[in-house]
Amino acid sequence: MKNSTLFSIIHTICDSKEVKGKKHQPFLDRLISNGHVLHFLLSQLYSKKENFDTIFSEMLELIIDSYIERHPSLLKRDQEKEQKGTWFLSNDLVGMSLYVDRFAGNLSEMPKKLDYLQNLGVNLLHLMPIFESPEGASDGGYAVSNYRVVDKRFGTIEDLKSLQQSLQEKNMYLMIDIVLNHTSNQHEWAQKARQGDVYYQDFYYTYNDRTIPDQMEKTMPEVFPESSPGSFSYDEKMNKWVMSVFHNYQWDLNFTNPQVLKAMLDTILFYANLGVDVLRIDAPAFIWKQMGTTCQNLPEAHIILQFIKIAVEIATPGMAILGEAIVAPKQIMEYFGKGFFTNHECDLAYNATQMALQWDALATADTRNMLANQSVILQKPLGSTWINYTRCHDDIGLGFEDYYIEQVGYNPYLHREYLKNYLGGRLITSPSSGDLFGVNPKTNDARISGTLASLCGLEKAIQKESAKDIQESIDKILLMQANSILLGGIPMLFYGDEFGYTNDYSYLEDAGKSYDNRWMHRPIIDWKKTLKIKQKGSVEYQVFKGLQNLIQIRKSNTVFADNNNVEWLESHNRSIVGFKRTWERKQVFCLFNYSPEPQELTYYVFNSVRPYTQELYNLCDASNIKIGKDKEHLSFKPYQFYILLVEM
Ligand code: GLC
Repeated sequence: MKNSTLFSIIHTICDSKEVKGKKHQPFLDRLISNGHVLHFLLSQLYSKKENFDTIFSEMLELIIDSYIERHPSLLKRDQEKEQKGTWFLSNDLVGMSLYVDRFAGNLSEMPKKLDYLQNLGVNLLHLMPIFESPEGASDGGYAVSNYRVVDKRFGTIEDLKSLQQSLQEKNMYLMIDIVLNHTSNQHEWAQKARQGDVYYQDFYYTYNDRTIPDQMEKTMPEVFPESSPGSFSYDEKMNKWVMSVFHNYQWDLNFTNPQVLKAMLDTILFYANLGVDVLRIDAPAFIWKQMGTTCQNLPEAHIILQFIKIAVEIATPGMAILGEAIVAPKQIMEYFGKGFFTNHECDLAYNATQMALQWDALATADTRNMLANQSVILQKPLGSTWINYTRCHDDIGLGFEDYYIEQVGYNPYLHREYLKNYLGGRLITSPSSGDLFGVNPKTNDARISGTLASLCGLEKAIQKESAKDIQESIDKILLMQANSILLGGIPMLFYGDEFGYTNDYSYLEDAGKSYDNRWMHRPIIDWKKTLKIKQKGSVEYQVFKGLQNLIQIRKSNTVFADNNNVEWLESHNRSIVGFKRTWERKQVFCLFNYSPEPQELTYYVFNSVRPYTQELYNLCDASNIKIGKDKEHLSFKPYQFYILLVEM
């Protein structure tokens, strides 16, 4: 499309909606300078559609309308964020994911809990899915039946708005999900499709018989092989097969139909105008399907995400996008955007590789696999950032590359078997009490469920009434948290982990949950238990205080902002891993001993700072450490870590 034609379309729509004049200039600048990018992206998906020009104009209209609807307070917040530079790279951000009902009861109770979160240092709140979803067949809310109505279990949209207000007043941030890949089979579109409405059948991938499903399933990995094998389900009412990659009640949306993208973009911009600061795009790797492929990470999936990102940058620029792509390390990287689209796809991605590698190191007392993988992880572009975490609501996948496991000298198959046995509760000598999730007998794949505390051994230690083991598990919890809080990116805690919740097995008595053992690590918070965080010496006190201290250290040192300033240190002891972060005249060495034994590390690792100082300041306990000679050693207790600051 010629620029003159494009500009005339934009001006015609804007003029008709009174979007003109100085007040709207920044928006018009964004729209005009990015209009051709939107057009280019959309044409790559739909240029063959007869009504492509109409589709493009409708998308533009949607973007312009969303800008018009944006509340003045959000426009102001957009500007403030812009002035901060890339606001989400800040060391001041610390997040927590939580289920509203299991954490606070409902949305109207949430504002009362903000002081508690602020006291810990959390200022970014990720609410697990809160939009309408059928009870029982909800996948924890990831099967949405209405994207605009808050589920009555949690409250109302007004409650959500008032929570957002409270957050904004406290200078906190809100994150929610858009479940982009699929809807519930109870969604209005699915219901109409089931009643035979062809227009809505085209919102999904529906087939009269098994011919295409059989062919596609040959190359599509199964996501939930135990509870929902295969990738297609038969719907009796419709008398058709429908694609359902996750559970059979989660129907995959057909993004080859532009009406689907339009409807989802509309919802995304609606969420932006609710004041959402970070939008978590659920399962983006799956949004485009093609026969003969795994139907994951396809180029068109990236085009859709880039289109969404550019639309958001134009209409509601304060909202950052997090892509929940839990895929192979090299592929995760692609979600930050490549080439022209670098930093214009997802602003944030889960550092799922690092998370799994920390569990690998904890189970093996060997950090070399973690170190080897950093050559991939460090390729993240400057300007985007990671969500770093130890646990979330999902299982732990051991999705790192075989190549590095081999490089370290292990057999990938046996190595993974060991990790599954150690963490998944199959090894009697292991302190961990987790369980295997998604066991696929055809491929022998499995992932791991369990809370941070249980996987770190607290559950078994309490059962054994062993003070030594309890202490060791607390040390492990804090080591895992420290490693992820001090890395480049936003730490995202999972509720309950802040004071050591162990597995909750009550899900087994609930028919809507018992088929999914991820519920064992999604606790119902007993607020009486949280009082224990004030009882000196209690487990809860030690975990909470330790975490609070780590967060405080991160927040008070700009060296922890994500300026792509992480440099991993050469390994001198396979149980100790470390990185150095440098910013302005400060350098911090973060060193972690993943071994149950005391360890020693040569002072040689501090050679780069010797010309400036002979002393390191330990931020963990405000003590000074003198740098010894190369042949001398810094001593580590089991699972100890150091955060050593040098001012140059
Ligand atoms: C994401 C969610 C997970 C859910 C799946 C399907 O991976 O994190 O909990 O089961 O998407 O929506």
